[in-house]
Amino acid sequence: MFIANWKMNGSQSMLSDWLEGVGKTLDKSLQKRCLLCPPVCFLSEASNIISKTNLNISLGAQNIDPNSFSSLTGGIDGAMLKSVGSEFVIIGHSERREVFKERDSLLSKKLISASENGLKVIFCIGESLRDKEENRTVKVLKQQLQTVKKVELNDFMIAYEPVWAIGSGTAATIDYIDKVHSEINDEVISYQKGGFLGVSYGGSVDSSSSKDILSIKGVQGLLIGGASLQYQEFCNIVLSNN
Ligand code: PGA
Repeated sequence: MFIANWKMNGSQSMLSDWLEGVGKTLDKSLQKRCLLCPPVCFLSEASNIISKTNLNISLGAQNIDPNSFSSLTGGIDGAMLKSVGSEFVIIGHSERREVFKERDSLLSKKLISASENGLKVIFCIGESLRDKEENRTVKVLKQQLQTVKKVELNDFMIAYEPVWAIGSGTAATIDYIDKVHSEINDEVISYQKGGFLGVSYGGSVDSSSSKDILSIKGVQGLLIGGASLQYQEFCNIVLSNN
C-alpha cells in the first residue's frame, strides 16, 4: 500500500490536480494500492472526485477523536470520517504524540473509536534519535505496540516511522529497516490478531529510495509525507515497485 500523508498541506486545486494526475498516470490496479490522507476538510471533495471520475484510490483521515468526547469543540469522530468517504484513519503519528502529547490512553480510545466505526487503522510507531542512540529501539516500539495488542481492531497496518528520519531528507538504511520490520512483524504476529495488514515504512521516502525499501521482505507499504505532495513524485514511487 502507498499512503500519501499530506499532513497540513493542500488546497482544493491541488486536490483536483493531484487526483487527475494520479488517475492519468497509474492504471486501476496500481490506483487500488494507493491511499490518500489529505487534511480532513478535503475528504468530502476527494470522495466526490473519486466517484465522479471513477478512480480506484482509497481515502483516509489523519486523525480521529474518540466518540466519548461528544462535547469537544472542533472534534471529528469516526462516524463523521466515514460519512465523508474515509476508509482508513492514521493514529499515533509521532507529530501528534509530540506536539499534542497524545499518550497511550488516548491512542487506545482512538483505536476503539475507529474499530466501533468500522474504520481501518494505520497505527504509527517510531523511536526518537535518543532511543536509537541508547539502543532502546526495539523496547520502545514494543511498548508502543501494547496499545494495539489490547484493542479489538478491524483491519490494521503498523507504520514504522523512525522519528529521526521523518522530514530529514534521509531514510533509514536498508539493513536497519529490515531488522526493525522483522522485529515488529514477529511481535504483532505473536498477538494472533486477525486483520493484520503488515508493516509499512515511513520517513523521508522518495522515488530514489522506494524501490530498495519495498524490496525488503517485511515491508508491506510506504507512508509518504513530503514526497506525496507532487503527484508526479508520488506516482514515480508507486511505479518504482512495478
Ligand atoms: P516524510 O513524512 O515522508 O516527509 O518524512 C512521513 C510521515 O511523517 O508520515
